[in-house]
Amino acid sequence: MLEVDGLTVRFDGVEALRELSITVPTGARVGVLGPNGSGKTTLFNAISGLAGIAAGTIRLDGMTISKLAPHRIAAAGVARTFQSVRLFQRLSALDNALPSVGAASSHEARENALAALDTVGLGERRDTLAGDLSFYEQRQLEIARAIAQRPRLLLADEPTAGLSPAESDHVIALLGRAFGAETAILLIEHKIAAVEALCPRALLLIEGHVAADMPTREMMSDRDLASVYFGSRLTP
Ligand SMILES: Nc1ncnc2c1ncn2[C@@H]1O[C@H](COP(=O)(O)OP(=O)(O)OP(=O)(O)O)[C@@H](O)[C@H]1O
Ligand SMILES: [Mg+2]
Repeated sequence: MLEVDGLTVRFDGVEALRELSITVPTGARVGVLGPNGSGKTTLFNAISGLAGIAAGTIRLDGMTISKLAPHRIAAAGVARTFQSVRLFQRLSALDNALPSVGAASSHEARENALAALDTVGLGERRDTLAGDLSFYEQRQLEIARAIAQRPRLLLADEPTAGLSPAESDHVIALLGRAFGAETAILLIEHKIAAVEALCPRALLLIEGHVAADMPTREMMSDRDLASVYFGSRLTP
């Protein structure tokens, strides 16, 4: 279970997250919606140790992770995919799917990575350099790396951005079948239909706080909220 309590993140005095609190039970799938700049990626950065925290705590399965270095947070069970794909372009797909530097020497890590490549459909591409993969394959490879990590929590930041509608559907379906009940998923998406396909619950972030936390279907049918995630402001 992920417990975020009173999380505040500031950049140059601007509050990107304001006393944000959420609880995500083990195995839950939760969509994160919100206009550009509302703090979605900052929330993921804070959880994964890539953004300094001004206040608040983050716990995973009861352990406080908010003061740990990013690699320790990953080891504690947090996996991540990035809004802009982050891969080692000059390493093979297999090397990219290995969860950490040095893991190559572990037989088990290698077997996990190979199985994860098979799961996403990149088994045949294991020796191809990441930089030679198509953009869609690169998105799949980031997911393979997360699968190989066997996380307790996956943070997927717009994993369908830049993909065709058919590719997007495949990625969402892949997330749904590749992670079991032991892995919670937080999914940032601008397309609420993609959220609905994976996540029964959705959060709406506005200016760094949780403006709504409700069943995705209810959010979809709420016209005021719809106007927010399509980019305009909530009417008073
Ligand atoms: N490293 C940084 N330095 C300064 N300001 C930042 C930094 N990262 C984010 N911000 C600011 O924090 C706010 C939240 O940004 P964030 O990237 O979390 O938004 P987002 O909801 O992910 O938006 P998008 O939908 O465009 O990806 C924005 O005002 C942004 O400009
Ligand atoms: Mg973002």
